Amino acid sequence: MQTLTSIETLRHQIQAWRHNGQRIAFVPTMGNLHDGHLNLVQTAKQNADKVVVSIFVNPTQFGPHEDFARYPRTESADSLRLSECATDVLFLPTVETLYPQTSQTQVSVPEVANRLCGLHRPGHFDGVALVVCKLLNMVQPDILYLGEKDFQQLTVIRRMVNDLNIPTQVVSVATVREADGLAMSSRNTYLSQEHRALAPVLYQTLIETREALLENANPSLLLTQRIQHLEQLGFVVDYLSLCRQQDLHEASAEDTDLVLLVAARLGSTRLIDNIRFER
Ligand code: PAJ
Repeated sequence: MQTLTSIETLRHQIQAWRHNGQRIAFVPTMGNLHDGHLNLVQTAKQNADKVVVSIFVNPTQFGPHEDFARYPRTESADSLRLSECATDVLFLPTVETLYPQTSQTQVSVPEVANRLCGLHRPGHFDGVALVVCKLLNMVQPDILYLGEKDFQQLTVIRRMVNDLNIPTQVVSVATVREADGLAMSSRNTYLSQEHRALAPVLYQTLIETREALLENANPSLLLTQRIQHLEQLGFVVDYLSLCRQQDLHEASAEDTDLVLLVAARLGSTRLIDNIRFER
């Protein structure tokens, strides 16, 4: 595995692979890698000749009072794990490389971004769209691998790639979970022992809510009850919403491809999860 920090050396390597007709996959991350990330890398490796993984804790997607400074940075352990998964290039740019002072251009996908998490994290998805757009221009991959765990992020990026005619196929990979159902996340390390024990209730709630909806429960009543239940247990719920998969608009009775999404805080840790289903 090569570790590259400059855009020039990255482009040089990509050009050499392209010259040989090799198919390139890309997995962007913010590091502190867990099995969810590594599953993306392994899936990418099975479907492409070369895999580029980036680790970049992107400042533009963190709000002023969010966890940018304390976000776990574990580069040597990450690097070891990536080389064991046959990653070809680890791209590790600095903030100055990605955001020179002259940088001004914004990327936003307001219709998909300004709802759900976007209401609680203003500007977050603009930061995500900008950095992913820049990284796609640097790597120019044939395929981009993203996790379904961040379903709204996935929807924002799909729309951006489509709107901007970026010649990359976006492939999503199912959420990898701990044995008790908690979706793996770099932020799970922030949880106290007590909150870690409570956290799997979020996924259980999604499963139970889906079952009740499939048995024709009234959605708004059911969602209100489930939010109250989570709050009684100690979660501070940002939202629990039933949406259409395609654009994350609130689902109506006619919609068939659905996703239930939740965001809730335990102490200072914000957890998100979702479950897709058809009816
Ligand atoms: P990060 O949270 O590090 O996630 C990197 C990728 O791993 C994303 O596509 C995310 O959806 C996926 N992922 C995270 N946890 C997962 C899990 N439990 N199962 C499956 N996939 C999982 O998401 C970001 O970084 C950033 O916003 C980024 C896209 C890199 C832009 O900065």
